[in-house]
Amino acid sequence: MKLTGYFYAFFILLTASAQQNRMWIPSEAQTAYEKMVQNGARFKSSDLYHPEKPSFNDAIVQFNGGCTAEIISPQSLLLTNHHCGYGAIQSHSTLTHNYVEDGFWAYSKSEELPNPGMYVTFVRRIINLTDRVLKGVTEDMSPKERQSRIDKNIAKIKKEIKIKPWQSLEIKPFLYGNKYYGFVKENYKDIRLVGAPPSSIGKFGADSDNWMWPRHSGDFSLFRIYADKNNRPAEYSPDNVPYKPEKYLKVSMEGVREGDLIVIYGFPGRTRQYLPSFAIAHITQNVNPVNIEIRQRALDIMDKFMRTNDTLKLKYTSIYARVSNYWKKWKGENQGIAKSKAISKKQKAEALFLQSASEKGFGKEAREVLDKMRKIYQDLKDPEIAKDILVETMYINNDWIRRGFILDALVRQADTKFKENKKRYLNRLTGEFRKTDNRVSKELFIEMMKYYKENMPPAFRNNRIVQMNFDEMAEEIEKKSVLADSIKMKKLFDLDYEEFVKSLKNDSGYNLAHSLITDYYNNILPAYQQTGAGLNELMRKYIKMLQEAGLYQEMVPDANGTLRLSFGKVYGYEPRDGMYYEPISTLDGVIEKYIPGDYEFDLPAKLLEIYKNKDFGNYRTNGSVPVNFLGTAHTTGGNSGSPALNAEGELVGLNFDRVWEGTMSDLFYDPKICRNIMVDLRYVMFIIDKMGNAQNILREIQSSQ
Ligand code: ARG
Ligand code: GLU
Repeated sequence: MKLTGYFYAFFILLTASAQQNRMWIPSEAQTAYEKMVQNGARFKSSDLYHPEKPSFNDAIVQFNGGCTAEIISPQSLLLTNHHCGYGAIQSHSTLTHNYVEDGFWAYSKSEELPNPGMYVTFVRRIINLTDRVLKGVTEDMSPKERQSRIDKNIAKIKKEIKIKPWQSLEIKPFLYGNKYYGFVKENYKDIRLVGAPPSSIGKFGADSDNWMWPRHSGDFSLFRIYADKNNRPAEYSPDNVPYKPEKYLKVSMEGVREGDLIVIYGFPGRTRQYLPSFAIAHITQNVNPVNIEIRQRALDIMDKFMRTNDTLKLKYTSIYARVSNYWKKWKGENQGIAKSKAISKKQKAEALFLQSASEKGFGKEAREVLDKMRKIYQDLKDPEIAKDILVETMYINNDWIRRGFILDALVRQADTKFKENKKRYLNRLTGEFRKTDNRVSKELFIEMMKYYKENMPPAFRNNRIVQMNFDEMAEEIEKKSVLADSIKMKKLFDLDYEEFVKSLKNDSGYNLAHSLITDYYNNILPAYQQTGAGLNELMRKYIKMLQEAGLYQEMVPDANGTLRLSFGKVYGYEPRDGMYYEPISTLDGVIEKYIPGDYEFDLPAKLLEIYKNKDFGNYRTNGSVPVNFLGTAHTTGGNSGSPALNAEGELVGLNFDRVWEGTMSDLFYDPKICRNIMVDLRYVMFIIDKMGNAQNILREIQSSQ
């Protein structure tokens, strides 16, 4: 049959991407489970997910809204990445107790440190609500009618589904609204810090090694979930007790070998696997280059100062790390899209789709959907670039104007809210001053203004800036504006609302920021949103037609921050022709990278001592200690801290990154070069034991086995 031919050709083309390596919804992972079994899995399908019985989802939480973490003891010891716990570790650090630098270990429960505002989220139940949400919805409805029907259905379902008082029900669209799922969630809010290695281990290699292999980082930290006496979620209280989990993960000391099955379970944030070729072209040719260039300029300036001045280096480390993280990711993404020929493969796949659609009698509609989307992406170029230029040059990479935006958000609040929120804003601004320095901020300001002036699409450009002398303006801000003066800023917050606003109206730095953010809300954002408004609906139709064209066996939804599992094997890869990367790194490699005094590659004296004495204990494997390893599981941002389970369903690794050559996997997964990076659990145990001497924590983990 001809169609089989299309299906086959399509499969070959996109086997690389959405066809094969996916992020499955745990309640609908039957096909995935069968494949896992073929690859050696010995756990039961009901271990992965069961709506009534304890299953892995009861041991895996979303950590503070972003990362993933897992419970590894009956007293809910929680394991996640160092970079996920970093804010908490930093918040407890002072000059006398520098937990970032020296690490932190609680030797008893009374030493564990509470973290106001921190929370973790369990997903207890996943319900496919597609039929109920789409009841009465028809294809001839306008998008508006459709949405209002859906909203009514959702409101009704929320009343019908019974949940416990401490639970919530979240209903989310999948596959651009072709499917809907409900998630019964529980938030626990008393989360305490239990342990963290020194950052020279937790972030070893810092930005140079970020997104890279070979990697040698001990990127982990430990927390504990506390509950009230009834084991229910509660705000922090000294009377709370460790939460007794329905399920915890068993830690395996068996380690991994090349070819072993690994299962990654967690909360991936966002992928866009089904985008058509021209959307990928738009992202990689229009959007990414602008963002990369702006960040490149900002990073160069920060780097220049950080290299020559230790105080500045310390101050800017966290901003530098944040800015460079996605700068590097986008660069890798663009190269990976080119190298895997993603755009031409998608073009060919679209041609097959159109052929198949016309044979099935909806060729015209199929062509129309693609043509309409193509047109929207053309129109979207300027508004999207304008949006990104404004955000990047004025907010992310411009210390002064960023403060202006923060102030402006407070000004926009009415008098009562102002009183309520003032303190929070001042805290945030104080933090901003702590992380920055006017010498750097001034250069950033001038450079970002220049970029804006030269590159902002004319229709969105602010006239003030076109005529401005940036050096003079920088002088003025530095000398007179509250944006560059922490003492003036503090005084400003003593004023009441009217005085506060009046004082800002006389500040030219603030006025500039106000004018720019007004452009954003009144002009840029509406243009971007209106231009792109039809895309979701067109993608919904496109996905539906792809299904009807019979080109996918099963369409697994893109990541959207909900609980997913993916699986793969421990494998190395060929980053370039003639070059092979082994999948496992060891302590020998850590020592090889050691640069005394360097801010990225320094090591604690104690680790050097342990290495010298080969004091590897039970963690010794082939004469060294395993540190990181690679896998072929499909992961993305949000999978940080996700457990890597072996064929027995036991914890062998902790996910924390992807390799550079494969960062395009958010758009196009290529099994040849896409790899996720994990910390070996043996390294985690080794560090707790030998560096932390935290026998209490070790015993707690080991006695749970
Ligand atoms: N690339 C990892 C992720 O996307 C780690 C980021 C933290 N490390 C860093 N050097 N910025 O989150
Ligand atoms: N480091 C990322 C995170 O924090 C995970 C790496 C990735 O994007 O795959 O979520």
